[in-house]
Amino acid sequence: MGKPYMRDFEQRNQHFDRLAKTPDLRWLGQNTNHIPTHPAVKEAMIKCIQDEEFHSYAPPAGLEELRELVIKDLGLEKMSALITDGAIAGLYHICHTFCGSDDVFLTTDPTWAWPMAFVRSVGAQVVQIPIYGDEYEYRLNPHRLASVISEKTKVIYLVDPNNPLGSCCTKDEIEAIAEIARSAKAYLIHDCTYRDFAYEHHLAADHYPERTITVWSFSKWLGFAGLRVGAVTALPDVIEQLAMAPPNNLGSNIVAQRGAIAGLKVKPEWLSSVLATTRENQELILKTVESIPGLRVPVFPSHGNFLVIECVEAGVRPEAVCTILSRHNIMVRQGAYHTETFGSRFIKVSTSTPREWVEEFCALLPASIDEAHGMTENVQLF
Ligand SMILES: Cc1ncc(COP(=O)(O)O)c(C=O)c1O
Repeated sequence: MGKPYMRDFEQRNQHFDRLAKTPDLRWLGQNTNHIPTHPAVKEAMIKCIQDEEFHSYAPPAGLEELRELVIKDLGLEKMSALITDGAIAGLYHICHTFCGSDDVFLTTDPTWAWPMAFVRSVGAQVVQIPIYGDEYEYRLNPHRLASVISEKTKVIYLVDPNNPLGSCCTKDEIEAIAEIARSAKAYLIHDCTYRDFAYEHHLAADHYPERTITVWSFSKWLGFAGLRVGAVTALPDVIEQLAMAPPNNLGSNIVAQRGAIAGLKVKPEWLSSVLATTRENQELILKTVESIPGLRVPVFPSHGNFLVIECVEAGVRPEAVCTILSRHNIMVRQGAYHTETFGSRFIKVSTSTPREWVEEFCALLPASIDEAHGMTENVQLF
């Protein structure tokens, strides 16, 4: 007998399992990095496996060498680092440690949505400041942040560069945002997952060290999404609170940490080739989009490894475009993944991928938009 109904989480999982099983899928939807790995990074991970280092647990806060390299890379010498199972696990833990019922969690719309689910699960209230639209210039104006701050604001969650928009705070904006957070005595989570793709990036921790928590990932710049390694840095007293009951108290993946150390050692060389590919891919997408009536790229250049393509004026639904492209083995993201309010306006495409993937996408885009006009049935995407 078949299952009478399928739970949402099963459907979501089967969707991603299907993607994982699809040979030659063009992963253009999750801001992941598919540029072939630096040989030194592969070697470090292979050595870790061959030495069978994985039988023991890694240190609870992370390998000391990795913790030191993270602090050095960010240039936050007074801070302490906690290695996490990807940035998401760090965010989950921060949200659960510092947010409770009746607290307000402030973020932008669009933002990266999972931390909102984390704080809602502990009873906190989420307040979002819309930043999508020409009138907002797709960025957070500090005055608008100041106008919604209250004594209940416990956490400000700033994704910078913003996912999905690709906009990035200027030095003045970061200083002002840090000052507003200080005046409210709020924790400022500065999610810098995409900072390495930015043309220029400024850390809030330099201006408001007391309560800024900088979150960083190895998934995007180093291409480690499936390996699950990230970092949280803050002043030692904040890290002490986080280190009291962390979900990864038995350490994070040792193979991933060895790879991350090797990655940080070759970072300048690696990043220059990743950035060159990413930015060329962005240019190619922009050129294609400009040739299709009704489409536009609202934020260019993007400071992330992705680009938003607005399709609302073309009269097509993002879900229809995504579904049509998926039939050609191309995964791109529908705006609704990020935002209920603005999600019907755009799709998002990753750019840290082999150029051929982006060329295939660009070649298919005009016909996919045409075809999407006639597609009315509802499809479930995640
Ligand atoms: C803004 C942001 N933060 C965190 C994450 C999660 O990163 P990780 O793969 O390190 O868990 C993502 C993933 O897409 C993201 O976009």
